[in-house]
Amino acid sequence: MTIDFRGHTLLAPLTKGGNLPFRRLCVEFGARITMSEMAYARQVVRRSKSELALLRRHPSEACFGVQLAARDPEESVQAAREAVARGAAFVDVNCGCPIHDTTRRGMGATLLTKPNQLARLVAHMVKELPVPVTVKIRTGWSEDEVNAAQVARLVEESGAAALTVHGRTREQRYTKAADWQLIGAIARERTIPVIGNGDILTHYEGRRRMAESGVAALMVGRGALIKPWIFQEIATNQDLAPGAVERVAIYLRFTRFLKEHFREDAKGKERTMRFLPWHLGFFCRYRPLPESEYAALSMQHPLLQTRLPEAEDLSLLERVLRDPREAMHLRLAEELWQAVDEADAVARFERVGEELPPQLGDAGDIAVSTG
Ligand SMILES: Cc1cc2nc3c(=O)[nH]c(=O)nc-3n(C[C@H](O)[C@H](O)[C@H](O)COP(=O)(O)O)c2cc1C
Repeated sequence: MTIDFRGHTLLAPLTKGGNLPFRRLCVEFGARITMSEMAYARQVVRRSKSELALLRRHPSEACFGVQLAARDPEESVQAAREAVARGAAFVDVNCGCPIHDTTRRGMGATLLTKPNQLARLVAHMVKELPVPVTVKIRTGWSEDEVNAAQVARLVEESGAAALTVHGRTREQRYTKAADWQLIGAIARERTIPVIGNGDILTHYEGRRRMAESGVAALMVGRGALIKPWIFQEIATNQDLAPGAVERVAIYLRFTRFLKEHFREDAKGKERTMRFLPWHLGFFCRYRPLPESEYAALSMQHPLLQTRLPEAEDLSLLERVLRDPREAMHLRLAEELWQAVDEADAVARFERVGEELPPQLGDAGDIAVSTG
């Protein structure tokens, strides 16, 4: 079985963010290749319920990949078989997770420091599995140890079907712009499709990155969390720019998917509330960025990493939607849960805005990242 990754915009593997209802929303906006949250191979083999839940695919996902954090070849194959039995079209090996708990056990970004071990792992998986195996890497462990080009060669020689390069080292987290020069250099050296990843927030940044680097495909993470409609924008080469009311409708639709997945009883609400306020923490960062106004600025620095001036004269609803405070996200999540339709959700949001006057300001850095 082969998968043609070329020309696609993939949804990145996102711990917490890449839950099934959110992926379903992205599929509606045109994402054709989606990925699970990172699952630990060992926990899958041990049949941990919460880990097995990460392997679940929604019927609308035409090409769903499961990402594994793994080290041991046998365990990886066993876990991958579970994923395939549940509908995974490909399996991705995580070589980027910077979290200490993962790296100290020899997984995630640690594999970048042991390229031969990684190569053996990938070769074994390729030999044993009926689906394509892909690998997602960072540029290196630290700025002194940038070895992505070497790792990429070994990954290709081991038989991987595609390679994603997130253009930052483990150490950099999100402090620097992703290194698209290096991503491009790797794409030129390799024959397998290289998927470029890092800092894409608008269709024009995606288009430019693809043209300049020559990557086969793009992957978006935070861009999708902030605006799940990014897939449609990239596919059509134009801004969708949903207004405030339209955005409320999108968030309400997402709430419906959460309800369908977790159910509408008390337990389902509790589960939904673990996700919905968190997602609102990304949604509130959305700003319209028309190409005519922002293309030049985006060439100096990625817009995702740029602090933009706040517009004035915003409607109450718009200010509510942009409020970065957790207290606001909790309130809005509750209203989305209660709302019966779009008009009701809008009215509820406006009422919240009257009771809890919105504050604008920096939503803060996104500190959590496992890739
Ligand atoms: C909340 C969050 C969770 C993440 N979880 C994972 C993960 O489970 N596996 C992984 O390989 N990368 C993970 N990453 C990294 C992303 O997949 C991606 O490589 C990174 O965010 C850069 O892309 P972006 O600039 O488009 O966000 C995560 C990132 C974020 C923001």
